[in-house]
Amino acid sequence: MASNKKETALEKRGENGARLFSPSAARNRDTIRDVFLRYLPDAGGVLEVGSGTGEHGVHIAAAAPGLRWLAGDPDGAARASVAGHIAASGLDNIDGPHGIDVSEKNWDEALAGSFEAIVSINMIHIAPFTAAKGLFAGAGRLLRTGGLLLLYGPFMRGGAHTAPSNEAFDASLKARDPRWGVRDLEHDLAPLAQENAFQRHAVVEMPANNFTVVYVKR
Ligand SMILES: C[S@@+](CC[C@H](N)C(=O)[O-])C[C@H]1O[C@@H](n2cnc3c(N)ncnc32)[C@H](O)[C@@H]1O
Repeated sequence: MASNKKETALEKRGENGARLFSPSAARNRDTIRDVFLRYLPDAGGVLEVGSGTGEHGVHIAAAAPGLRWLAGDPDGAARASVAGHIAASGLDNIDGPHGIDVSEKNWDEALAGSFEAIVSINMIHIAPFTAAKGLFAGAGRLLRTGGLLLLYGPFMRGGAHTAPSNEAFDASLKARDPRWGVRDLEHDLAPLAQENAFQRHAVVEMPANNFTVVYVKR
């Protein structure tokens, strides 16, 4: 996205002013919204990290007027897009953009207010593993007991890919950056959950070999 940084979008996005449009978000945003809303509370603060274009946040916030959604991304072009989508939505329950990079130490300290849930869609496989580590650690500090961490994306299960297409995707990610890659729910993320007092609550199979994974803070 930003010209001076590694390209983080893996697809050709549409543009309208600062607003970016992701073809994959157009395809999967209804499914993600519907599954996320099964687990998110009716009311309270939700922090989204790695919002990208901002489309998912606006789409979910539009369907959940009781939530206060805070969207953002460390990438400048993404933040401009998030701001554009928020403005165009006319919604008053979504705010941002923040610039949180979850691989930074104590990224949660700058946040004001309380959050019932933290959401990250398609982020931890397109970032070094330090991002996953930082996400769990910060979420562990930020959320109270019963708070939720929701992840969406492709994941390995117990050391194996769940589909040949995911294995090929993993190889293509690692070719772009050897620090990227599809994470394993049991081998990579279970230890992070354990270290930061999260219990895995649900793993929901999603279209195209993706998963929604729900963790609850103990
Ligand atoms: C593939 S995009 C996904 C965007 C959006 N969530 C979606 O699904 O359409 C991944 C996003 O994660 C962001 N990201 C990468 N590393 C991050 C980090 N350490 N902390 C927060 N966001 C990060 C990138 O800037 C990028 O916008």
